[in-house]
Amino acid sequence: MASLGVNIDHIANVRQARQTIEPDPASLALLAELGGADGITIHLREDRRHIQDRDLKLLRELVKSRLNLEMAATEEMLEIALKFSPDMVTLVPEKREEITTEGGLCIATNEIYITTFVNKLQSNGIPVSLFVDPLKEQLEACARSGAAWVELHTGNYAEASWQQKPRELSRIKESVARARSLGLRVNAGHGLTYQNVEHIAAIEGIEELNIGHTIIARSIAVGLKEAVREMKELIKNPRKDPLFSQGLN
Ligand code: PXP
Repeated sequence: MASLGVNIDHIANVRQARQTIEPDPASLALLAELGGADGITIHLREDRRHIQDRDLKLLRELVKSRLNLEMAATEEMLEIALKFSPDMVTLVPEKREEITTEGGLCIATNEIYITTFVNKLQSNGIPVSLFVDPLKEQLEACARSGAAWVELHTGNYAEASWQQKPRELSRIKESVARARSLGLRVNAGHGLTYQNVEHIAAIEGIEELNIGHTIIARSIAVGLKEAVREMKELIKNPRKDPLFSQGLN
């Protein structure tokens, strides 16, 4: 059975929308672990639109499972990764104008740079995963780079119409087999939902699925009723705060 890495970036998205302190990704990551998450994934973006450096620091201290840091292959991020030593770094492409990570990395056209970058992390004990589209030439370049892992981009499968899904699914199955025959370990993710995850989860050889949006969306759906109920209760029966009612001096 594949393990589950929960991507908690969207928790930080909600917090940043108000530039405030809640919801807090670090404390909620502990709830995700209690629910069975085998790992916590965050993407520290160059523009810091959601996860902040402080979140990484706190999560490094608090996460008991595994912390997977998604990042772009830049000098700034390299320095941060070496400082905080996450349990894994997943290298992803990053564009400022995108809403979420759009495609996989093009290892084939940046092979020398990526190979050196991978080596700097792995020689410091941080395993590297490369987020790539399920394509033969990318997987071969990943293997040459020396990275221990790949994460196969499941976005095309997730977005495909039902007629196209079987073709996208076989592409992923073939890529898993190819990656493993090249000596790579395999994760997968992006766009997976409660509706489409099962076919991917059934593929032999995928070690971890990284899933974010759908889990955070579902947590709002399953938690909203209780959150409203709690607020109604406070409005109906305000609690007495002894310090406040007696004054502070
Ligand atoms: N894997 C990678 C490399 C990603 O960039 C993302 C999105 O941040 C995910 C997995 C999770 O995708 P989703 O939020 O669609 O589940």
